[in-house]
Amino acid sequence: MDFRELVTSPSSATYATHRIHKHPAVFIPQIPRHIIETYSTKNDEDGDRPLIFDPFSGSGTAGLEAKLLGRDYLGVEINPLSKLVSEVKVQPIPPSLANQAKQDLIQILKNTENGYHANYDPEFLDTTNKELWFEPKAINGLTRIRKALDDFDIYAYDILSNCGEFETKIIQSENIDRQEVQSRLYRWFVLMIANTVYEVSNADPGISKAYRSPKMKDLINEGKHPPDPIQVFTSELNTSFEMLEELWHSIYESTEQAAAHQDNSLDNALDENPAHKAVVDIRSGDAREFSDPDYQDSVDLAITSPPYINAINYYRGTKLRLFWIHDLMEEIIDSTDLRQSFVGTNSVSIRNKENLPKTTLGQWNGTTEEFQSTSLSELDQTILDIHSGELSEAKRRAYTTWKFFNVDMVRSLTRTYELLKPGAHFFLVIGENTIGGHQIQSHKYLADIAQNLGKFNRHGGNLSKVDGYHFIGYAWDEISNRALFQDRNHSNGVIEGEWVVILQKPRP
Ligand SMILES: C[S@@+](CC[C@H](N)C(=O)[O-])C[C@H]1O[C@@H](n2cnc3c(N)ncnc32)[C@H](O)[C@@H]1O
Repeated sequence: MDFRELVTSPSSATYATHRIHKHPAVFIPQIPRHIIETYSTKNDEDGDRPLIFDPFSGSGTAGLEAKLLGRDYLGVEINPLSKLVSEVKVQPIPPSLANQAKQDLIQILKNTENGYHANYDPEFLDTTNKELWFEPKAINGLTRIRKALDDFDIYAYDILSNCGEFETKIIQSENIDRQEVQSRLYRWFVLMIANTVYEVSNADPGISKAYRSPKMKDLINEGKHPPDPIQVFTSELNTSFEMLEELWHSIYESTEQAAAHQDNSLDNALDENPAHKAVVDIRSGDAREFSDPDYQDSVDLAITSPPYINAINYYRGTKLRLFWIHDLMEEIIDSTDLRQSFVGTNSVSIRNKENLPKTTLGQWNGTTEEFQSTSLSELDQTILDIHSGELSEAKRRAYTTWKFFNVDMVRSLTRTYELLKPGAHFFLVIGENTIGGHQIQSHKYLADIAQNLGKFNRHGGNLSKVDGYHFIGYAWDEISNRALFQDRNHSNGVIEGEWVVILQKPRP
């Protein structure tokens, strides 16, 4: 399988809602699309829609592709902002309604007094200094937008009178209650606040963590930054509306045409529309812990790209956006818990620094011969080499690398194993990166860990020593979307390309 062929042009990633938010390190949609089309059938052996799973669901690229292809999807994601992005991405809103609601909100915003609205200035979740990251113009504009959203009062908004005839029928036939449609509008507007924060904050947009670069300082001093938040928000609403409209049409165009033929009722047409029926379930959770008896042994295909070690600090990258919307979200967020739950970052607390480094062999339950037949002794040597580096960061990096493989990946591979049906495939897209000057061949280590899951101490499941995935093979994907991987030196991760590790859960 040559994944390079899939990447035709950068614009090929922009269809439907794929680019509704600037999310770090996303899949090129063609990758999950190709895998879903090739490795799942329209119906499984019981005649049901197959279930696709992504334990590090991110912005939900695989979820949107699954939905468009008429497969059910389960995604697990730790970052509430990413979860919000994926929900907005996959939940169609009738275009007439979305357009009207958008115009009404813009009107309310125009009528909202310019200036600072203290009641709408959120408390930040940690000690992050608001004034450092946002100029008064940005803070004023963002509080004004938040006030307008509150004044709009979406949960009192009349849904049906703003829908077209066909749209009303879809909503009614789908049996979505009014409140669910209102929630979809609300999530969309909240996400657009997050998009606005990204554009008006003082963080350099070219860098994956919040960083106030000299370039940004110059722009601020020259009065060229920030842009007007109201204009940014309005333009984000308009651009994303077009994406949502395209999403709706991708799902419902064929149904509208089929229902237009008198011999085919709308119910029949909807019944023949797998994208309409496909269910997307995005869970807020930790890939290392996630389990649900309803999903045990029921996933037909898993696809994921785990976080990169030390390369993208997802928390530091999205926290400014999160801070401006956290009080508008469905779940309560504890920033300390959240920061520590991200896989791959070096913000992990190291309690037993003195005991470092730990090695993979220390976690191994199998025989020495079995260990030597893997490439994991190479991983051990790399961890020791990182640890002996000059910089004060060396110990922390060694620990992060050790923990990534021996705890985070062992556990998340095991949780996915528990959810997969026997015989189902698991595709892991993983970049090679360099930690403390040492290249980490993550694909090789992951393939070895996956095959030997039961021989690790920390899998936390009911595995016996012989349990593990079958290794099917590797494929290679050159990262084409470089814009998302700029300036990686700041975070010490250089990623040239990605490996696709193909695994299979054995049949009994
Ligand atoms: C490489 S990104 C996945 C991007 C995704 N493929 C997409 O196209 O949007 C990795 C994701 O893993 C998430 N993550 C980090 N630690 C996690 C954990 N413990 N459990 C679940 N998700 C986690 C990050 O928030 C990030 O969204």
